[in-house]
Amino acid sequence: MKEKKRASAYFDTAFLLAFIQQQAARTEEAMRLDLESSLSGQDKMLREALHYALLQGGKRLRPVLAILSSRLCGRDDDKLYLLAAAFEYLHAGSLIHDDVIDHAENRRGKASLIKKYGMTAAILTGDWLHARSMHLIGSLAGQEGLDTVCHATRAMVDGEFLQLRYAADPAVTEEQYFSVVLRKTAGLIRSTCAIAALFGHADCEQQHALAQYGEKIGIAFQIVDDLLDYLGDEQATGKMVGNDFIEGKMTLPLIHVLAHTAGDQRAVLVQALERTPRDKDGCGMARQLMHAAESFTFSQQRACLEVEQGLAALSCFKKKTQSATRMQQESLMILEQLAYYILRRDR
Ligand code: IPE
Ligand code: IPE
Ligand code: MG
Ligand code: MG
Repeated sequence: MKEKKRASAYFDTAFLLAFIQQQAARTEEAMRLDLESSLSGQDKMLREALHYALLQGGKRLRPVLAILSSRLCGRDDDKLYLLAAAFEYLHAGSLIHDDVIDHAENRRGKASLIKKYGMTAAILTGDWLHARSMHLIGSLAGQEGLDTVCHATRAMVDGEFLQLRYAADPAVTEEQYFSVVLRKTAGLIRSTCAIAALFGHADCEQQHALAQYGEKIGIAFQIVDDLLDYLGDEQATGKMVGNDFIEGKMTLPLIHVLAHTAGDQRAVLVQALERTPRDKDGCGMARQLMHAAESFTFSQQRACLEVEQGLAALSCFKKKTQSATRMQQESLMILEQLAYYILRRDR
């Protein structure tokens, strides 16, 4: 109850969205300038594919988190927007490769890069983005920043392998689900906040606090993404709804429904999950059973819990608000709002 009250006190979506839009525009400008200089003399198709993947759509969550984390620690200058762009590069590169892995045809409201330009271009464009991102993070945040992001990127690959291992396996546990989510999604969000704190000259306590915040909201972010894969509207998400079931992904609502459905209904669900190829009817049946077992409510509650833990991690900043600048106070407030927004987003 107390938590609900706290959440509503920060409920100012219009202000938050305006802030995101403003920072996204600055990051896009940094990306355009960086692409212009770093692509000089390089292939025309690479340029086209990069512009296609980077400059239309996307919520820009990672750049916004980088900007807010650094500002919270007291630093805001032109280089920060290049650092923010580097995290968007890494994220966009991972999405391009993720769409290859997930056989996804749509991304950000248009054809995925693999669908539009083919497999070779998708792999190479993703590689370019990873390389450029590493270069920028190394030059802006030093060896420590580079080590942190390389660790997160290796974990992301490991997470995708784990996810593959668990595909369509009805015995997968919640614990195994969270080990995938930590690696494939939360690690990059954690490293974004931690590296931006480092860039902002944060002390160890502050870096750790922002890393924790990033990890927890990163977990919540993926849970909500997995919910949107069953409940979302394709117009809003810009990607296909129902793809997780078709790919056999063992996400939280599916693990929950398997643990809370018995007898014939469970047997039919397992059959639909183990069948190849899986189809939309199987996914529709899973969705109905999930409603009946309250698997969506359960998953949403779990995401809320992660957000609360993420916010608790920021307490060391809260203690210092008296001596904080206006920019720092505003950044803390927006980081809090952003965490709640992750829970109620529809895209
Ligand atoms: C999608 O990330 C991949 C996940 C980690 C769930 P986003 O939902 O942030 O994708 P964009 O950047 O807005 O397209
Ligand atoms: C996140 O998982 C992918 C990455 C961390 C790259 P998903 O596969 O669920 O992401 P979407 O739904 O395709 O955006
Ligand atoms: Mg995917
Ligand atoms: Mg997804």
